[in-house]
Amino acid sequence: ILEILLKGLQRLEYRGYDSAGVGIDGGNGKDWESNAKSIQLIKQRGKVKVLDEEIHKQQDVDLDVEFDVHLGIAHTRWATHGVPSPVNSHPQRSDKNNEFIVIHNGIITNYKDLRKFLESKGYEFESETDTETIAKLVKYMYDNRESDDISFATLVERVTQQLVRVFSCTELLLKRGGPLLIGVKSDHKLSTDHIPVLYRSSGKDKKSCTTLPRMDQDTCLFPVDEKAVEYYFASDASAVIEHTNRVIFLEDDDVAAVTDGRLSIHRIKRTAGDHPARAIQTLQMELQQIMKGNYSSFMQKEIFEQPESVVNTMRGRVNFDNNTVTLGGLKDHIKEIQRCRRLILIACGTSYHAGVATRQVLEELTELPVMVELASDFLDRNTPVFRDDVCFFISQSGETADSLMALRYCKERGALTVGITNTVGSSISRETDCGVHINAGPEIGVASTKAYTSQFVALIMFALLMCDDRISMQPRRREIIQGLRVLPDLIKEVLSLDDEIQKLAAELYQQKSVLIMGRGYHYATCLEGALKIKEITYMHSEGILAGELKHGPLALVDKLMPVIMIIMRDHTYIKCQNALQQVVARQGRPIVICDKDDYETIKNSSRTIKVPHCVDCLQGILSVIPLQLLSFHLAVLRGYDVSTHHSGLKMIIQSFFVLINNYYSLVGYAHILLHILLKNH
Ligand code: UD1
Ligand code: M6R
Repeated sequence: ILEILLKGLQRLEYRGYDSAGVGIDGGNGKDWESNAKSIQLIKQRGKVKVLDEEIHKQQDVDLDVEFDVHLGIAHTRWATHGVPSPVNSHPQRSDKNNEFIVIHNGIITNYKDLRKFLESKGYEFESETDTETIAKLVKYMYDNRESDDISFATLVERVTQQLVRVFSCTELLLKRGGPLLIGVKSDHKLSTDHIPVLYRSSGKDKKSCTTLPRMDQDTCLFPVDEKAVEYYFASDASAVIEHTNRVIFLEDDDVAAVTDGRLSIHRIKRTAGDHPARAIQTLQMELQQIMKGNYSSFMQKEIFEQPESVVNTMRGRVNFDNNTVTLGGLKDHIKEIQRCRRLILIACGTSYHAGVATRQVLEELTELPVMVELASDFLDRNTPVFRDDVCFFISQSGETADSLMALRYCKERGALTVGITNTVGSSISRETDCGVHINAGPEIGVASTKAYTSQFVALIMFALLMCDDRISMQPRRREIIQGLRVLPDLIKEVLSLDDEIQKLAAELYQQKSVLIMGRGYHYATCLEGALKIKEITYMHSEGILAGELKHGPLALVDKLMPVIMIIMRDHTYIKCQNALQQVVARQGRPIVICDKDDYETIKNSSRTIKVPHCVDCLQGILSVIPLQLLSFHLAVLRGYDVSTHHSGLKMIIQSFFVLINNYYSLVGYAHILLHILLKNH
């Protein structure tokens, strides 16, 4: 059991964390109530390996005993409240007897008020975490129960209701909206493949509030003939996929309860549009899909996957023979989109850059005004949004808090919402009115690479679809579609520059700063290249719009400052040449990323990275790859672990999902894994 939990945590390591912990019950009782009496918590700062060693040091854990009924939880933490330490690690507990234990990811906005309240009632806190308030609040609710037969499900529901009531703001509601799935493993037939969602009574009848729904084949899932079953509650499919590919995705505010091996799902309140059931889905993801293969890190693997990932984005959608594009996810909405007043692309980080990169071609092919917005700033400004706007949400994970909040903001204002997501079943994919899955495959590296190029391609496909009946646009459409046809081969050609770029990295890695300059289609490449360098190499880097050089940034350039310039043969070529002159005039010695056939630039530059030529609006895909490779090699040379550090940005955890079983429970967020085993001999 511990092995399953630790392995599961290791699968989530790529997301980054600073401490880890497990909570296991004593097992071998007839039911969970008796098992719960001996919950043990083992927590450590550092890697899962350190936790594993700590577990093996424990005198009172019998690693050979076999259990019939068992429950364990595990968690990796990235400190937000309180330093990384065993006491601040999860699980957090209600009291010294470990009566209620909890793991969670995300932030409890009102924890200070809750803590003050609970302390005034005599509850003593041991950690600095916000999470501990949940465990203590459950205990408080339990200590003040109106009757002894109160179920644990009811207790947890009350706690969550309390949190919502205290903070009935969008932010907290959003923090309930992260990914959570239940893996089901049983060699035996299951009673159903759809679990109906049950509702509790409205609360007028207090007593009925404390009873769990009926547990029969109409209301819950169990193996027929009461055979063995294992449930895995996890924030990420990669933690469970090696055990089972049968999963149920929970929706916001779902409460999943396991009682004596039977799983039921219920909700506190009925709202319009609720789906009546949750389906057991079969995940196609294979473990090897998320393994590193021969590469030294996921980031490197994902950079080199791009010739295939862009094909996967286009597969079944672009017909290169008759120059047509079909996007199944938009077909019912395209007419409405064509009638809209403007397009707003909203995202964070790299996904935002995909919007910046494709804005010009979207404007050209749709002839609509296009705004590109950073989700956080868009929200800060209370940006006016109207019913005839179409708002795009670009997100690899589909779970980024600001993007999700912006999505809800736009929905409330009646705009049509469109997702460009890589994660099927993610919050953004589910909550948008329609969208396009970019199908780039799981992106595990902290630094987003293949998702960017696939988002880019998806947005181009959308632009092509928008003008497919415009006769005047046909030559341009054909040019772009034929550009897409050759794109995978051109990406391969750029990737073959890897050795050359590694050498360049060896020259640059001890520098403090790198400036990246370009304009037009390549401004996004500058921003994205600089973000990659900052994110994984800890070097300062800045993407500068070449048109802005003379308005200040030129002052940074001298013979020592490393400068990378992107100069391609498009409508900005002459202006970029001017920028090059300005940099050279200040004794700068830029490294120029240029078209391999641009002899003029090659002749005039001391150092070039030569990439193949492509249609102008796709060239940004080819100009960004050298910078992805450069950032990767710089990070390696500077001694950073490319896969696992700095995952704060990648933490897609906004959820406040509640998992319960009848006797004791877990309030779970992303990065958690709960394993429940029920054996029947
Ligand atoms: C779909 C199938 C794909 C199948 C293809 C066959 C899924 C997820 N995709 O792909 O496996 O090969 O049909 O024709 O089952 N959506 C959103 N928001 C988003 C992303 C998508 O609402 O952010 C919606 C779409 O509007 C659509 C559905 O999710 O209703 C699936 O989208 P997508 O996978 O892009 O559709 P297809 O390419 O048609
Ligand atoms: O999952 P998302 O695309 O919504 O994530 C948005 C950003 O956090 C993400 O792109 C981030 O900037 C990347 N880690 C950068 O490499």
